[in-house]
Amino acid sequence: MRDAIYLDKNENHLGASGKAVDAVRAHADRLCRYPAPGGPELKDKIARLLDIRPENVVLGNGSDDILFMVARAYTDADAEIVIPETSFIGFDFAAGLTDARIIRADLSNLTVDLERVREKLSSRTKLIFLANPNNPTGTFVGVERIVGWLETIPRDIIVVIDEAYIEYALEAPNAHVSGMLAAFDNVIVTRTFSKAYGLAGLRVGYGVASSKIIAAISRQAAPFNVNSMALAAAAAALEDQEHLAAAVRDNDGLKDFLYDALSRIEGARVVQTKSNFVCVNFPCDMSKLHASLKEKLIYCSLFTSAEPLTYLRISTGPRHELETVVETLRALLDSGPLRKAA
Ligand SMILES: Cc1ncc(COP(=O)(O)O)c(C=O)c1O
Repeated sequence: MRDAIYLDKNENHLGASGKAVDAVRAHADRLCRYPAPGGPELKDKIARLLDIRPENVVLGNGSDDILFMVARAYTDADAEIVIPETSFIGFDFAAGLTDARIIRADLSNLTVDLERVREKLSSRTKLIFLANPNNPTGTFVGVERIVGWLETIPRDIIVVIDEAYIEYALEAPNAHVSGMLAAFDNVIVTRTFSKAYGLAGLRVGYGVASSKIIAAISRQAAPFNVNSMALAAAAAALEDQEHLAAAVRDNDGLKDFLYDALSRIEGARVVQTKSNFVCVNFPCDMSKLHASLKEKLIYCSLFTSAEPLTYLRISTGPRHELETVVETLRALLDSGPLRKAA
């Protein structure tokens, strides 16, 4: 029996930079010490990368942690939080920590529809969560469009733009952040070392915002919320932009393979994404297909968009694993019963 194939969490199968791994090893003899409060060294490095000031950076135990901090800081029992329908489940978890009401805005063409989000705003809206690229659909809205839309959003509403996959989406992923920060004191951009930097197990992410927002959300952080291994590894990972570029190139190649191989399966509707996963629908009972893959120890995610269509979300992974997934899908679909159940 072959090993299980895990393509359900959008991890970076190439792993972390060797420099990050060395930094963790080098840190092992200092484990008895608490981490530096607030992670000043890492904040400095992030600030330099983004051409902003360290005071505009907050660190989290994964970017999830920052989403939680924002939700706690900015909502009360009367508040509404607008979230696109079919988006990152972590937004729901963050909203769930509060008594605020979630208001959903439908996607268009599996893409976040900014106009629909705006139509959902009310006098009670305190917070908007957007993921760009969106998870689980992988679609992307251009930065210029986001900026134009932000101009139309009341400044007392906090807008979270979650860029967990941005390194996969843009050739120059850092160019827009300082301008956005200067123009909008109600926006927080969140990012993570879990995806393209390959450090998901260490849990480290960051947020970039006006000093007003940073102060408000930092009050919600647990002391020493980012551990010392994570701080050391993330700082080293930032120094290895070649590894990051190699990870992005590898991901592009694997996505091309998936687009091509999945499209050759009869009836496939493949979604072109800007992240490290590909979505596909087949004219069959998708829940059964998902369950059949699981029986064969192939783990992907299943989601239904309001459009309505159900998709498998397949993370990129080692090429041989993706080949196994494609062959297994073809065999399951060719065998008949799943097709008939459509
Ligand atoms: C859109 C999005 N945001 C945030 C996260 C959370 O990342 P982290 O590991 O930094 O908590 C994920 C993880 O899958 C994600 O897909």
